[in-house]
Amino acid sequence: MSAEERKVTISVIKADIGSLAGHHKVHPDTMAAASRVLAEAKRKGLIIDYFVTHVGDDLQLIMTHRKGVDSPDIHGLAWDAFKKAAEVAKELGLYAAGQDLLSDAFSGNVRGLGPGVAEMEIVERKSEPIVIFMADKTEPGAFNFPMFRIFADPFNTAGLVIDPRMHDGFKFEVLDVMEGKYVVLNTPEEMYDLLALIGTPGRYVVKRVFRKSDNEIAAVVSVERLNLIAGRYVGKDDPVAIVRAQSGFPALGEILEPFSFPHLVAGWMRGSHWGPLMPVGLKDAKCTRFDGPPRIVGLGFNITKGRLIGPTDLFDDPAFDEARRTAQLIADYMRRHGPFMPHRLGPEEMEYTTLPQVLERLKDRFKEAKDYEKYIKPKIKHSEMLSGAEEMHD
Ligand code: F6R
Ligand code: MG
Ligand code: MG
Repeated sequence: MSAEERKVTISVIKADIGSLAGHHKVHPDTMAAASRVLAEAKRKGLIIDYFVTHVGDDLQLIMTHRKGVDSPDIHGLAWDAFKKAAEVAKELGLYAAGQDLLSDAFSGNVRGLGPGVAEMEIVERKSEPIVIFMADKTEPGAFNFPMFRIFADPFNTAGLVIDPRMHDGFKFEVLDVMEGKYVVLNTPEEMYDLLALIGTPGRYVVKRVFRKSDNEIAAVVSVERLNLIAGRYVGKDDPVAIVRAQSGFPALGEILEPFSFPHLVAGWMRGSHWGPLMPVGLKDAKCTRFDGPPRIVGLGFNITKGRLIGPTDLFDDPAFDEARRTAQLIADYMRRHGPFMPHRLGPEEMEYTTLPQVLERLKDRFKEAKDYEKYIKPKIKHSEMLSGAEEMHD
């Protein structure tokens, strides 16, 4: 088969179309409704294969096809599947039915309408192992930390040091979600610049990773930020990612390794708290405690002539028991801060807040502070403080 014939696109498109007993878990009947739409599309030859699943309250459509990324046909298909699932959700009276379908008018691309999308077009290798990660109660930047560790940290990925095919390193495409600009940074040379950006995961988000030696795509993350799209609170963005494994890419075990440390991510209750990202198997892919803690599922597949062989439920494994236990301990520790930062997110990152109303109500009760001008008022603005720090190191 020629390279052109071996081209296949993997599309993971997800949406919260309503869930059972709160923002907790997708109902099986809504998954069945979406599956029927995809089965019909497979029968007609629009897609090669599909797998419908869920993590927490997010319905996940995993599809393979030959239409390339951003295909109106495939996005239209996903939209139909979500619509049908949302109809069932409404009929069952599920909670927040239709939540992520922000517009009634589909115009060729689900981006900007609510669903999250991760897609990559590849030329299928002799054997093409991939991992699909799906998280609930967090945001796309939650993948910054594991993506860095997988593709740039030799203490995580032995292959960066000892596999000649990976030794040149990887390139990271980082999106500034506030400005709509992106930058591509090479590792290991620009590792510190990369970290300077992606250490702020609410703004700078790793979108794609490429192998430097031949520009092959290695990973892609959904970067939709629902709250930015909608201009008001509609839930966190619950990201998905696709990562290619083995044979010149990180090994399966190198891809899973970062999740043995449940790092803190933004999201959790009301999209407004820091909490640990707990790796779980599908049977535990539901959000309970304080609407969480944020969870992540990893499914392994082989793509074979476009077919999805699998999945294997990668975190459903005693090897991740200790990570789950650590996550619970961290969850306890963070919860004890109650409404205080740093458990609660900073005001600029919270999904919603009553602060303006509180300030309005109290505005006549605020009195001038004694000696404010003299002793208390900051002498310089926050932005000036930052450039001051720069000068300090000149
Ligand atoms: C977070 C999330 C939930 C809800 C919370 C309140 O992404 O989905 O934590 O924010 O359950 O939901 P409402 O306001 O719908 O009662
Ligand atoms: Mg929900
Ligand atoms: Mg969700």
